[in-house]
Amino acid sequence: MTTPKLRAELDGIPTYKPGRPPARDEGRPAFKLSSNENPYPPLPGVLEAAAAAAASFNRYPDLACSALTAELAERFGVPAAHVATGTGSVGVAQQLVQATAGAGDEVIYAWRSFEAYPIITQISGARAVQVPLDAGEVHDLDAMAAAITDRTRLVFVCNPNNPTGTAVRRAELERFLDRVPADVLVVLDEAYREFITDPEVPDGVDLYRDRPNVAVLRTFSKAYGLAGLRVGFAVAHEPVADALRKTAVPFGVSQLAQDAAVASLRAEPALLERVRALVAERTRVVEALSGQGWTVPETHANFVWLRLGERTADFAAACERAGATVRPFPGEGVRITIGETEANDLLLRAAEEFRKEL
Ligand SMILES: Cc1ncc(COP(=O)(O)O)c(C=O)c1O
Repeated sequence: MTTPKLRAELDGIPTYKPGRPPARDEGRPAFKLSSNENPYPPLPGVLEAAAAAAASFNRYPDLACSALTAELAERFGVPAAHVATGTGSVGVAQQLVQATAGAGDEVIYAWRSFEAYPIITQISGARAVQVPLDAGEVHDLDAMAAAITDRTRLVFVCNPNNPTGTAVRRAELERFLDRVPADVLVVLDEAYREFITDPEVPDGVDLYRDRPNVAVLRTFSKAYGLAGLRVGFAVAHEPVADALRKTAVPFGVSQLAQDAAVASLRAEPALLERVRALVAERTRVVEALSGQGWTVPETHANFVWLRLGERTADFAAACERAGATVRPFPGEGVRITIGETEANDLLLRAAEEFRKEL
């Protein structure tokens, strides 16, 4: 049977594997520690804003996301023309690739890193150049700079990196940015920015200001707890931000998402309180795992990484039996989201048991 002709680039594209929800079992706890979500309910005022917006979802949303854009511009001290919103930061990342790269071009990123990068690169038709993380699970920025060729159009730097949680510091990132040709776009993916407490890890928004080839990606999905509403944004100089407006799916960001995001920004004190609590839990989990004998790379995000190699699947299964679903990367390791205290306790007990049986 003749089928419609599809682009050959789509052959063999890896499918995005979302973190699994926990298997529900009567009488057993079931925590989802597999998608780096926020365990808390919406911030004060957010549900009300979303519910009010829901009353008019017979209407299209504001195409330009004007109120949210203005709020973000004010919040970051940047011109509104430098803010471009999209359907989650993964949507904006895909637009950035679409805007810069096609067949014959190259997109560079560290590996392992965010699993959407290979997918959106392959869809564009560009070649993916994966640069291995260094022995400490950190971006090898020298190797990434050395991988740049005349064909390179975009470089992703995921800071902190998903799934390892590791981060690059200011001096090394600035040295890297100085080496990147001015016509190559560097995308600083800062989906987990709010969880950074180390002052040496730079804020991409500071770095983008005098660098026209730097774009910063942020999201409302993680610290802000709006993963289900799909809204993220880029801060970038006008040519890049304009390209994002051209490549955006019209009306992609719902009015619910826009209004909830504005309300979330206005609830910043409550947000910071929750972030502090999660960071305290992160410290507790890392210390406990290290105390049990695990090697835990320094994490700056709301998750931890255990390089378990062959034992990855067994460890994930043991956590699942205990009632916590984690995110295994078969043969490589496990990413564990920091959740509510009870979930973290349960995870730590499962990890301890597993360790004893090694
Ligand atoms: C590094 C990184 N970037 C971007 C995203 C996408 O987040 P969203 O599309 O929900 O904004 C994620 C989500 O897991 C991520 O880990």
